[in-house]
Parts: sequence; structure tokens; C-alpha cells
Amino acid sequence: MKNFKLIDHPIIKRDLTILRDKKTPSSQFRPTLRRISIMLAFEAARDLKLKEFTVQTPLEKTKGYDLKDNVVLVPVLRAGLGIIGGFLDVFSNARVGHIGLARNEQTLEPVDYYFKIPQRIKRSVVFLLDPMLATGGSGSAAIKFLRQRGAETVRYVCLVAAPEGVKRISKDHPDVIIYSAALDRELNNKGYILPGLGDAGDRVFGTNE
Ligand code: PRP
Ligand code: URA
Repeated sequence: MKNFKLIDHPIIKRDLTILRDKKTPSSQFRPTLRRISIMLAFEAARDLKLKEFTVQTPLEKTKGYDLKDNVVLVPVLRAGLGIIGGFLDVFSNARVGHIGLARNEQTLEPVDYYFKIPQRIKRSVVFLLDPMLATGGSGSAAIKFLRQRGAETVRYVCLVAAPEGVKRISKDHPDVIIYSAALDRELNNKGYILPGLGDAGDRVFGTNE
């Protein structure tokens, strides 16, 4: 699993436990997911290139830095919307695209229903955001769409990944690095991650509360 990076941090472990807990209501789920997302954003950006420039402090000039490459953030609807706020806190200049995908509950195949991506993503660093990497069908399809639009550098950021999904992305898109807060055990026969946190979209939006 050389394209998989586990983001290991005590605060992430604590917060992920809150998200896993079935008693956590969406009113607590959303801010907790946003806080984890900020930490995921820092880690997924760890090796981004910088450009130097001169900044004038109130006292004198000194060396300053900004990110060299443009950043494009692409949440996968719906659940990716739970991550975008934290990423925008970190990448306030980023442009944002949206990909709408929903798994067919019988076949587990992703069905696409929305695609709006910023122009000129070719030389940007694209962060694809989706809390759950289960079979990998949705992630693989999303990356394919991004590639068709010219995306070169794609980083896949999730919260919980299943080994099946990591294998699928590594096979279909070997150059995409996956950043995740957890690598869970397996999928159940309905394609849910075990132990997981349930249906991430429903948990974010309180669909069943
Ligand atoms: C969830 C999740 C991923 C997908 C992962 O979305 O947010 O997009 O399932 O499963 P996969 O790796 O097997 O493709 P879902 O299709 O439930 O849509 P939703 O976010 O609208 O609930
Ligand atoms: N999608 C989810 O929201 N949760 C899972 O466990 C698997 C796919």
C-alpha cells in the first residue's frame, strides 16, 4: 500500500472516535469533522512546494512564502461537503469543484449526477475530498472524471478507508496518494466499512435523526 498515507495524531484519533460513536448527533458530527479536516489538510499539504518572496513586517523586510501551485478542492457530494469547510479554512484561495456521485445500493456502482469543475486545473494540485473510501468505485470514477478534465496531480483525502478501496484506487490510479485518518478492517456485504461510522452523508446531514 505504498500510495496510502495514514495520518496518525492523538487529536484525530480522539475526534474520529466521536464520529464513530452512533450516539453523536449531526450537530456535533459536523464541527468535529471540520476540525479533523483541518488537520487532514495540513498533513496532505506537508510536501507542497513553496515560492519565496519578500514581505515587509512593521520593522523590516524578511523572507516570506506562499504555496507555489494553485489548489483546487473537489468534494464528492454529499458527504464531501462535510470536509470542504475545514479545507477552505486552510486553503482560502482555493477554487472549488463539485462531483455528484451516489452508490447504487444494489450494485454498489457509483452513479454520477453532477460535475462542475474549475477551468485550468491542469497545473493545480487537486484535493479530492470524500470521508469514506469503501469499494473505491466512487473515488476511482471521480479521479477518472478529473483526469478527463486535465487534472495531473490528484490527492485523495478521506477519513476512513477500507483495504478494498485502497487496493482499487492504487490499481486504477497508481499515481494518486490517499491520505486517511484510519484504515479499517473490511467491508460488510452491503459495502459498508467495518467498524466505520455508518453512512457519512446521513451522519453529516442528520438524515435519519
Ligand atoms: C458514500 C461516500 C462515498 C461512497 C464510498 O457516498 O461518501 O462517496 O459512498 O463508497 P464506494 O467507495 O464504495 O464508492 P454515497 O454514495 O452513500 O452518497 P452520499 O454521500 O450522497 O450519501
Ligand atoms: N459510504 C458510507 O457513507 N459509509 C460506508 O461505510 C461506506 C460507504
